[in-house]
Amino acid sequence: MATLKNIIPILMLFFPVATYSQKDVWTVPPEKAAKVNPLEIKPKNLTVGKNIFSRNCVACHGAKADGQGLIQSASFLTDTFQKQTDGAIFHKMVTGRNKMPPFGSVLKDDEVWSVINYLRVLVNPSVLPPPKDIRIELAASEETHSLTAFLTTADSVRVPLGEVDVHYYIKRDFGLMRFGEISNYTSEKGKVTVSFPDGIIGDDQGNVTVLARIENDFLYKNNESAVVLRWGSLLVTEDAKFNERTLWGSRSKSPVWLLILANGILAGVWGVILYILYNLFRIKKAGKIFIK
Ligand code: HEC
Repeated sequence: MATLKNIIPILMLFFPVATYSQKDVWTVPPEKAAKVNPLEIKPKNLTVGKNIFSRNCVACHGAKADGQGLIQSASFLTDTFQKQTDGAIFHKMVTGRNKMPPFGSVLKDDEVWSVINYLRVLVNPSVLPPPKDIRIELAASEETHSLTAFLTTADSVRVPLGEVDVHYYIKRDFGLMRFGEISNYTSEKGKVTVSFPDGIIGDDQGNVTVLARIENDFLYKNNESAVVLRWGSLLVTEDAKFNERTLWGSRSKSPVWLLILANGILAGVWGVILYILYNLFRIKKAGKIFIK
């Protein structure tokens, strides 16, 4: 018996990881684990969950949710993790342990449930149907300076699609500028309206290109629709300042003092070099007398 008592601690030294996680089992009281997730797995709360996940969890749990973030945390991809009830995950998220912060005071209950829904979909995308094609129509209202996107199924029946998040952009020279709310969900009639922002500069005729996009949606494939509107202010490039000699002007419009200074420095440096060469030449010539 005594030898067994000695052997066990020695064996434990060989399996430090196993023994560590053994004592580290995170038990959740059964009544907490039995708590039911009140939210259905729907695009709206999946988007909420996805945003919270990338903002609050990725740092430690990694973008792939494998637990390999900046610190070693817990993987959400394992069977052990996924077999837990939503209630158990909820309890762990809300109370926290060791380096896992308690999110109870940071996130609302619905937000926590949304993250749990998102984690289920992230690991097992087949929970959702395969993404479908979508059709977008974009219409502008001159009266209210607003844009309305109308979303339907891509087939000939064209059923209006509600609760889809539309992203609005204005095309700029070096990319896209987003406008509207963070989320613009369509109504039951498949429509969502946003107002066009003030003070947008268009091209020399005031034209701007506006895009309505479906991006990274959980149910629909990416798609976009564009309209060109004359709602921007005119792009004016013939500013009087561009014709003056200024520091930010083009080469032919550089300030006179800068030209004198820069060319003066060049002339000075070259002058010294040429003066040295001239004197070397003279020294060589003077030396020839002795060689003869
Ligand atoms: C500061 C780092 C950090 C952040 C941020 C963080 N976690 Fe954790 N999390 C951990 C660590 C470390 C553990 C392991 C804790 C332990 O077992 O003692 C853990 C464990 C967990 C567990 C329990 C895993 C299991 O199987 O028992 C869940 C669930 C969890 N985290 C969810 C989240 C969610 C969701 C977020 C974002 C809202 C998040 N965590 C943010 C570090 C973090």
